[in-house]
Amino acid sequence: MVDMEPNTTTTTPTAPRRLPNRALVVGGTGKTGRRVVERLVALGVDTRSVSRSTVPRFDWADPTTWPAALDDVDAAYLTYYPDVAFPGAAEAIAALGVAAVERGVRRIVLLSGRGEPEAKVSEDALLAAVPGATILRSSWFMQDFSEHFLYEPVLDGVIALPAGDVTEPFIDVEDIADVAVAALTTDGHEGVVYELTGPRLLSFADAAAELSEAIGRPIRYLPVTEAEYAAAAIQAGVPVEEAEPLATLFGVVLDGRNAHLDDGVERALGRPARDFAEYLSRTVPTGAWAVEDEQAAG
Ligand SMILES: NC(=O)c1ccc[n+]([C@@H]2O[C@H](COP(=O)([O-])OP(=O)(O)OC[C@H]3O[C@@H](n4cnc5c(N)ncnc54)[C@H](OP(=O)(O)O)[C@@H]3O)[C@@H](O)[C@H]2O)c1
Repeated sequence: MVDMEPNTTTTTPTAPRRLPNRALVVGGTGKTGRRVVERLVALGVDTRSVSRSTVPRFDWADPTTWPAALDDVDAAYLTYYPDVAFPGAAEAIAALGVAAVERGVRRIVLLSGRGEPEAKVSEDALLAAVPGATILRSSWFMQDFSEHFLYEPVLDGVIALPAGDVTEPFIDVEDIADVAVAALTTDGHEGVVYELTGPRLLSFADAAAELSEAIGRPIRYLPVTEAEYAAAAIQAGVPVEEAEPLATLFGVVLDGRNAHLDDGVERALGRPARDFAEYLSRTVPTGAWAVEDEQAAG
């Protein structure tokens, strides 16, 4: 029986690297995947980034596309799309894990979500099939505000979420990528479940205030109900079959269960996680939210 609780084995952040001959990154154009690819390439690892738009093509929904992606690979970073907690994820992830091991993949790292019962089903399915897999159970990404579904709300100046006054330890995806690469290239991470959080709990009102200060524009947080959130998402064009489960998922993960810090980044890397203030001071100068400044000027 696989122990489904986080493994507290002390890891060895300074373990010598055993670089894979070739690494696979599933979702290699995504928020975490592209950063993992950049790091692996910088280390000199032959890296195959795949998604529906690459050659070879990889589609989670089409297992006939998997063998070509796995060919001659010995380490793999997996991001499931659309969400590791959605129906069908556990079966697909476990099946890919089995196929990967059969083809000689030695290290498998899965990105997961923190405090999500359905995401844990996916983790457990992978660990049952591949006990040596590494799970990165991550809190909400800081980059959700600059590269994902909270980007437009930041530009609009109103972040509406069914989050009440709950706090969340947002994590910098740069840290997720660092942990993923450590797990793909060094020993000591096999079978470990890392709870990855940032170093500070922030309410969405706190995050909005820090975004306002850094960007120089008023941005406020508006608490809404799950039903209001789903209705607004559908009106904005999100398919109903995605909007409703997403609103339900938010209601679950934002009920206070995740309002605590964890030390996964420190355990994996031997250094503290990056702070939200560092994310802001790094991201504002890139012009990520510059359109808003132009609108303000106009
Ligand atoms: N956002 C958060 O705060 C958060 C927190 C914890 C965990 N997560 C988890 O993060 C995962 C997503 O990772 P991410 O944010 O790094 O990626 P992402 O930015 O959402 O990008 C998705 C990637 O997957 C590819 N993709 C889309 N559909 C695909 C399909 N059917 N088959 C294969 N590839 C497909 C996309 O490329 P193509 O379009 O070219 O296919 C792209 O490379 C989800 O499982 C989510 O549960 C997110």
